Amino acid sequence: SVTTTVETYRPAMHFAAEDTWLNDPNGLVFHEGTYHLYYQNNPFGNVHANMSWGHATSTDLVSWTEQPVAIPCDDVEEIYSGSIVLDAENTSGFGADGKAPLVAIYTSAYKPGSLHEGTQAQSLAWSTDGGYSWTKYAGNPVLTRNSPEFRDPKVFRYDGPSGSYWVMVAVEAHDFTVLLYRSQDLKSWVYLSTFGPANGTGGIWECPDLFELPLDGDSSAIKWVLTVNMNPGGPNGGSAGQYFVGEFDGVTFSSETTLTEGMQDPERVPDYQWLDWGRDYYAAVSFSNVPDGRRLMIGWMNNWQYANHIPTSPWRSPMSLVRDMSLVSVNRHPRLLQHPAPEVRATSTPGPEQRLALNGPATVEGGTAVQLIDVTFSPGDAEEFGLVVRGSADGTVGTRIGIQPGSGDLIVDRTHSGDTDFHEAFASTSRAPISAAKEGNYTLQIFVDHCSVEVFANDGLVSVTELIFPDPAQTSLTLYSTGGTADAVLQLTNFEKDDA
Ligand code: FRU
Repeated sequence: SVTTTVETYRPAMHFAAEDTWLNDPNGLVFHEGTYHLYYQNNPFGNVHANMSWGHATSTDLVSWTEQPVAIPCDDVEEIYSGSIVLDAENTSGFGADGKAPLVAIYTSAYKPGSLHEGTQAQSLAWSTDGGYSWTKYAGNPVLTRNSPEFRDPKVFRYDGPSGSYWVMVAVEAHDFTVLLYRSQDLKSWVYLSTFGPANGTGGIWECPDLFELPLDGDSSAIKWVLTVNMNPGGPNGGSAGQYFVGEFDGVTFSSETTLTEGMQDPERVPDYQWLDWGRDYYAAVSFSNVPDGRRLMIGWMNNWQYANHIPTSPWRSPMSLVRDMSLVSVNRHPRLLQHPAPEVRATSTPGPEQRLALNGPATVEGGTAVQLIDVTFSPGDAEEFGLVVRGSADGTVGTRIGIQPGSGDLIVDRTHSGDTDFHEAFASTSRAPISAAKEGNYTLQIFVDHCSVEVFANDGLVSVTELIFPDPAQTSLTLYSTGGTADAVLQLTNFEKDDA
């Protein structure tokens, strides 16, 4: 049986609210040296209700400080997901005393009995104190289609051949479409175009994002990436994110994403790619205004299938690690790479490299509850090789992260990971396609925390993000091969962060 205390699962390297519920990251923005993470929050409890924008800040992307609720719900509306821009030119007129405002563009989910009852529409709030206090615009909503499912506006500044203006992407969730609009002042919006329905229509579409990235690091080869979260319909069940890569001409986004390497099952994946193959990476969106061309994303580590039931208290749901996004050509097709922000490991000291010849299970020294695992496997004749993290000393319990080179599958098996029976949909074995690097090796980067594993394979081309609820005493680490041999080079890094 799992003996836990209320804080057993509180993450060390991820953000979770002190004692309330959270879901989607919202309004991600870097401003005057501080990263702001707003999020869907229930200020009064730990299930999804009373949606408001909670708020946390960080200067290093690792240590987060919870701030007072930024935009609370009221009798008229809940504050659904959206984004924040720095209105540097004060196009909105919300600025004061020469100070550029931060402007939040959020979805008003209108309550029964209110004037706009039954609709979701886009609204504004602004801050001139760096994102701590917010005022709603009296002219809200600024964009309505009288639709019950029109939401999750992500706004960015477009400067290109078609002009210079704000662009909004938002979803018509049940139509599987992303709608694009433009504006000069963030207040009045003109329709541009619609993307979709596209192939990823297994569930409703939510929380879109559209951003540029250089292909293969070449700043003269810019591509646009459209990410769209989808619920359910994910590759291993429930909530997940998909992406499309293509061109945006200031009006229309056109996708070039086609069936590519590792996606041999045409039933499963035509014409889009998965952002993450795990069960718990949803509603991911990117930060705006980050210097040095960095595109940083963060996702909600949970799944709507069981989100309200995960066994944490008084808080519920952590965020993922912040990820650095880049775009590379794989077989001449552009694909996203994700790397946990280097800040995550910057304050930790890597341990020595260990070399292991595997022929069966081998428990290694140094397994801890919170750590970074870098491992490279060279296949021998084993059918499968991998690791069991957060395991029991007797090896019967733990989360199995395995590679089956024959089928090219990466497996994350949490059926014996600890507490799994709080919801029937939780226990699962996820699969993601991976291939060997040129020398035939498989390299994994794994981030283990009190209630999660994030696995990055193929240099960030494939990631699997999953919640786990192990007994706090389950910290054993085992490497294994089954049906033959494999070699491994292992490096463990105990996670430490600056308390400053
Ligand atoms: C996604 C989502 C969004 C919505 C928000 C409500 O998880 O359903 O579409 O804005 O959560 O909390």
